[in-house]
Amino acid sequence: MPTPTPQAVLAPLTEAAIFLTYTLDGSEDGAATVRALLADVGGLRRSVGFRIPEGELTCVVGIGAHAWDRLFAAPRPALLHPFREVTGARHHAPATPGDLFVHLRAHRMDLCFELAQHLTDRLAGAASVVDEVHGFRSFDQRDMLGFVDGTENPEGDERAAAVLIGAEDPSYAGGSYVVTQKYLHDLTGWNALSVEEQELAIGRTKLSDVELPDDVKPSNSHVTLNTIVDEDGVEHDIVRDNMPFGRVGAGEFGTYFIGYARDPGIIEQMLENMFVGKPPGDHDRILDFSTAVTGTLFFVPTVDLLDAAADDEPVPVGTAVPSDSSSDSSSDSSPDSPPDALPDGS
Ligand code: HEM
Repeated sequence: MPTPTPQAVLAPLTEAAIFLTYTLDGSEDGAATVRALLADVGGLRRSVGFRIPEGELTCVVGIGAHAWDRLFAAPRPALLHPFREVTGARHHAPATPGDLFVHLRAHRMDLCFELAQHLTDRLAGAASVVDEVHGFRSFDQRDMLGFVDGTENPEGDERAAAVLIGAEDPSYAGGSYVVTQKYLHDLTGWNALSVEEQELAIGRTKLSDVELPDDVKPSNSHVTLNTIVDEDGVEHDIVRDNMPFGRVGAGEFGTYFIGYARDPGIIEQMLENMFVGKPPGDHDRILDFSTAVTGTLFFVPTVDLLDAAADDEPVPVGTAVPSDSSSDSSSDSSPDSPPDALPDGS
């Protein structure tokens, strides 16, 4: 059997990105429209991107748990479930609606925008945009908090090993999972901190982006809480493609968090550490200046599965689907258990 081709989840960070989250409108025709579009995504990307090859336009499409049950007869990918909200003593990561997700990246915004238009036109009457964020690259790949963001992303073979599903779910090998969260920052509060206090919150120096020594880095620093090491001493990475966004006049300053992983349980562990704290109560200091306003989880099929989507049998409306599909924002009603063990990263 030929190796399935992953979507462009491994593509590098670019100067521009658009993140689109859609919900399905609900009709049987709509499901067929969505499946037809999924099969055409590759062709539409080529139609837009081929004209400006140096723009390196990429498009990744994700499918939410409820939408999967509506669109496909095949069983859900093993670890696909609705985003699970996380509630700590002070901070909350909400789960918000999302059936389809599109991550567009290019060196130029016009390419992302043009493809976003094509995709959304094709979904008219079948799915509606419920969240749209246009992200831009800031100086030195800095986020809205002024720190370089993305440094510790895995590179080379480790990048693929971190994000692509392998033998643990053979039917969906080459696929991935993606978690997104939109954060809004209190920049006035953040900027009232000294640079030294900000560095302790992140766990790295601000100007030179060097990790603080272990005996200096606090237990509630962002880097400490997001370093996931299992009982065998193996570190588990994810690939992040965060982008800043905002509207100056509205006082909106944000970070769009997007993390890819072969096991969404790794990202869920990071969120638990950030929001609940490790130990509980010792939450991530950046949350005192960053509010999560969305939270979604999607499966990212291979190109082969997307291409075949139009041929899949529709699930008739009214057909019984798993019980957790009654509400998009349900957080703990998924029948799927968290993975017993983290992947071996091989
Ligand atoms: C590291 C910013 C949310 C996971 C970092 C770094 C910065 C940063 C500046 C240090 C440099 C780097 O290695 O990239 C932010 C901001 C966020 C955010 C501004 C939103 C307000 C998240 C979330 C997660 C996460 C929600 C996971 C659920 C990580 C990981 C690292 C990291 C895994 C690397 C840790 C290491 O191995 O050193 N983040 N982040 N981040 N962040 Fe975030």
